[in-house]
Amino acid sequence: MKKLTGLKKIKTAVFISGTGSNLKNLIKFSKTRKSPISINLIISNNYKAKGLRYAKQFKIKKKIFNFHISKIAEKNVLLFLEKEKINFICLAGFMKILSKNFIKKFNGKMINIHPSLLPKYKGLNTHEKAIKNKDKFAGCTVHYVTAKLDSGKIIMQKKVGITTEDNSNSLAKKVLKKEHKLYPAAILKILN
Ligand code: GRF
Repeated sequence: MKKLTGLKKIKTAVFISGTGSNLKNLIKFSKTRKSPISINLIISNNYKAKGLRYAKQFKIKKKIFNFHISKIAEKNVLLFLEKEKINFICLAGFMKILSKNFIKKFNGKMINIHPSLLPKYKGLNTHEKAIKNKDKFAGCTVHYVTAKLDSGKIIMQKKVGITTEDNSNSLAKKVLKKEHKLYPAAILKILN
């Protein structure tokens, strides 16, 4: 008999470009009873992304799109998402900036995790910036995706302390641990 749990979960795609530790964490979360989402698709712009291995490991469909001409790529991604009946998108280390047109199609249904306490340090090299500025705290943010980079409505944040021994690598590790707690919590907050 088919299990009832999971049937009503929101069909979600996770977009990645690299390691995929957030992806793995979200997959594990999605398999818990309390999760409002199921991960049905992994999308990447990078066929070498390490995180793509989780597609095989967890038997999830994956699809890689060449973003060389992003307008064409986005069109194909949208068609594929429609075909797979995807209703929600989690960006997790996806290194391409999506266009206004794409974002409009998933308005309020696409979220991102960013490794800083937004609005501080939008864009790249957030940990280097926090250390260079001698900040006492770093952290991570889950927010809605809007046309302006890393500027959509904040859903949740988590802080970590920065010590004098920290460098950008150690800080990245500390923040990533928090990210793995934050992303599921943020999803529960908005979708429950
Ligand atoms: C994370 O730090 C995330 O906040 C940022 O990119 C990194 C992705 O890490 N957007 P991973 O691929 O999930 O391990």
